Amino acid sequence: MTKRVAVVTGGIGGLGTEICKHLARDGRQVIAADLASREDRLEAFRAETREYDGSIRFEPVDVSSFEQCADLAKRVEGRFGSVDIVVNAAGITRDVSLRKMTEAQWNDLMHVNLDGVFNMCRNVVDGMTARGFGRIVNISSVNGQTGQFGQTNYSAAKAGMHGFTMALAREVAKKGVTVNSVSPGYCKTEMVMKVPEDIRAQIIAQIPVGRLGEPSEIARTVAFLTADDAGFITGANIPVNGGYFMSF
Ligand code: CAA
Repeated sequence: MTKRVAVVTGGIGGLGTEICKHLARDGRQVIAADLASREDRLEAFRAETREYDGSIRFEPVDVSSFEQCADLAKRVEGRFGSVDIVVNAAGITRDVSLRKMTEAQWNDLMHVNLDGVFNMCRNVVDGMTARGFGRIVNISSVNGQTGQFGQTNYSAAKAGMHGFTMALAREVAKKGVTVNSVSPGYCKTEMVMKVPEDIRAQIIAQIPVGRLGEPSEIARTVAFLTADDAGFITGANIPVNGGYFMSF
């Protein structure tokens, strides 16, 4: 069988890079799709993934643009084959309390974190359903389940992502396509390290396992959901948060 092709948006970021590595180790051809403007990060990403010998490739995209996502899907198909797996990991924060939030801080975040999911999924879903196989994983957040001070925009987008996940899961369930969310808690990423140190310390104190998560602990959950034999898990949200939020 030819290698399954996986697109990971936010693919050169903190979680994205680790997700790319896990999928490549599982035998996927991985496309790390991210902003071309992240030049410093791109250089580090290339060094970190060199040993994967071409099974992880970078392709530029701005997920907030529908046209760019359409173009990405076509480019990938032309060069590597049909897109079988999409991991929507592109996300930004614009943390500030609602009383001070500008319209741009709301809109910029929504365009990337929520519109980006629509833009990518809309451009691959027909192919997946026609071929009878697809795996979509949306990287949501524990803060979409609990809400977080200073994150009305982020929490809304992340909760919205899971609503999208459940609705699309129903639409494509009979076509061999699964759609799931993974909701990471606080992990060792640049995004979390940007949280002021005193606030981060308070948050860590509330995590039952007593530490931040490793990006690889998120990536292994994503890899699990994208396996060929994971076809009975759909519309689910898998929390990976060290016990920070528990529900049933
Ligand atoms: N809880 C309760 N009260 C808080 C607070 C908090 N977390 N943060 C600030 N306050 C209080 C302040 O003490 C202040 O009180 P007073 O008015 O009495 O002085 C009031 O709320 C307003 O505070 P600020 O003016 O400082 O608020 P701000 O709008 O400037 O923003 C903030 C504060 C920077 C957003 C800060 O709350 C913060 O960093 N919060 C944490 C955000 C966070 O966890 N982000 C996660 C990023 S990583 C991520 O998102 C990944 C993932 O998926 C897990």
